[in-house]
Amino acid sequence: MLRTVVAVLILAAVADRGHSADGPVKPIPEVVPERIIGGSTSNIIPYQLSLRSYNTHTCGAVIISAYWAVTSAHCTAGGTISSLTLLAGTTNRLSGGALYRISRIVNHPLFDQRTHNNDIALLKVSVPFNFNDLVHPIPLAYSGQTPTTGSAAMVSGWGSFSTNSPALSTYLQSVVIPVIDNSTCNKLLNGRITANMLCAGPLTGGKDACAGDGGGPLVVNGFLHGIVSWGVGCAQRNSPGVYTNVSALRLWIASVTGV
Ligand code: ARG
Repeated sequence: MLRTVVAVLILAAVADRGHSADGPVKPIPEVVPERIIGGSTSNIIPYQLSLRSYNTHTCGAVIISAYWAVTSAHCTAGGTISSLTLLAGTTNRLSGGALYRISRIVNHPLFDQRTHNNDIALLKVSVPFNFNDLVHPIPLAYSGQTPTTGSAAMVSGWGSFSTNSPALSTYLQSVVIPVIDNSTCNKLLNGRITANMLCAGPLTGGKDACAGDGGGPLVVNGFLHGIVSWGVGCAQRNSPGVYTNVSALRLWIASVTGV
């Protein structure tokens, strides 16, 4: 008896996939989440932080040790140790996780606001990050280590999903994009790429970081190679995203943090 009931239920369920009372089942509309452009909603990324100003998301940041996070210098502009905090351990920008106070902000002394050269800042937390499955650091690229052109890089954040919309994503997004070599990128971006920058993004466009992703991680083979810095619009053809080159600034990071 039970078997028959189960069989009937299964048959009904199978039949239901093709048809319904009013005809063929409409395809489920593809959900287009607010996002990093061209990416998808991500599981927890333990090194990803939300940098907050008065507890409102303004940028991404990255855990590099128990006491230190790295972000972009353009993200700390105007910020103070009392206005900025870091949210760790949640994929939802609006709930969960643990909020950390900041005791030191160290902007790169040669950061150039106009060219975005040396777009890096270090943030020291008041109490160490409580490491667990949801919260832990990512190793930094070694000094002078350049990722191979075309290798897969993952960028993540809560930034906006289009150049023209300021709306942030509620849930963490990520996308995998190819590393572009500096000379190609420099040609595409009219000579604006310095040795302290790194480019990534398909030349066909469609996948990129965008506003609100600044300061966030670009990871290649498990190492932090880039920090979201700037771009010409977002996800445009022949216009890769530009990242702070961590390996070029690796010794400065070590000199400040000991990491
Ligand atoms: N400046 C932006 C921010 O701070 C990041 C822009 C990145 N743009 C890009 N096309 N990859 O949020």
